[in-house]
Amino acid sequence: MQVWAIANQKGGVGKTTTVVSLAGLLAEVGYRVLLVDLDPHGSLTSYFGYEPDDLEHSVYDLFAHSGEVTEKQVASLIRDTNVDKIQILPASTALATLERRAVEHEGMGLQVARALRHQKTVYDYVLIDSPPVLGVLMVNALAACNHLIIPAQTEFLALKGLERMIRTISMINRARKKKLAYTIIPTFYDRRTQASVGCLRELHKRYPDELASAVVPIDTKFRNASMKGVVPSQLDSSSRGVLAYARLLRTLVEQQR
Ligand SMILES: Nc1ncnc2c1ncn2[C@@H]1O[C@H](COP(=O)(O)OP(=O)(O)O)[C@@H](O)[C@H]1O
Ligand SMILES: [Mg+2]
Repeated sequence: MQVWAIANQKGGVGKTTTVVSLAGLLAEVGYRVLLVDLDPHGSLTSYFGYEPDDLEHSVYDLFAHSGEVTEKQVASLIRDTNVDKIQILPASTALATLERRAVEHEGMGLQVARALRHQKTVYDYVLIDSPPVLGVLMVNALAACNHLIIPAQTEFLALKGLERMIRTISMINRARKKKLAYTIIPTFYDRRTQASVGCLRELHKRYPDELASAVVPIDTKFRNASMKGVVPSQLDSSSRGVLAYARLLRTLVEQQR
């Protein structure tokens, strides 16, 4: 089982879109995929038709008790989606209260990692959608994954957010036995604008080893897919955006071998 976290300390950079795009492509070729929504906004949860405001049980339950959660308890939180082979551990808006509460409890940073331990034989891939703030939820995402994917919008302001994220990884790595490997995927690329082109060049210069060769262009089909609640490859498997994510996926799978 591979566990990939998708994170960046900035909102609106394409994190949730990266999660649904990769999930769709993985499920299409037969992999069993679990999505974990750790963002209190619950965009990923809403994407698949669940209402984060109304959910009685959600990933929040993992944090309700500081002790170990049983396999059965974890399984009871997981829901089906309208896409074959994709299931979701949904978010609820209650997650927002966690950042404050978690400081009262030691060891809250490993709740998601512990819950996933029980799922090793059930899923091939777990994709974790992380919130844009560095707190107990992002720490859980980073502690549970074996690879991190950082979507970075191709504009200069986004480079600052990226620097912050890289600093966070160094900090996390001090506490990890094995260094966390990561891949940066440029998003919202528009080759007609100087801002996009210049930013991509800068990304190449700064992160030559971590930058994916795939670049995700601006593609309105992502929004259309989200409005319909289908994964992007179901809407149009040959759109430029989907092809870029397919290329990213090939690189990631290669790396894990
Ligand atoms: N490459 C892209 N081209 C055009 N629109 C995109 C692209 N990626 C994401 N979007 C749209 O931009 C908005 C924000 O993306 P989202 O993935 O939700 O970002 P995040 O999860 O980082 O906040 C969504 O409406 C999404 O459909
Ligand atoms: Mg999101």
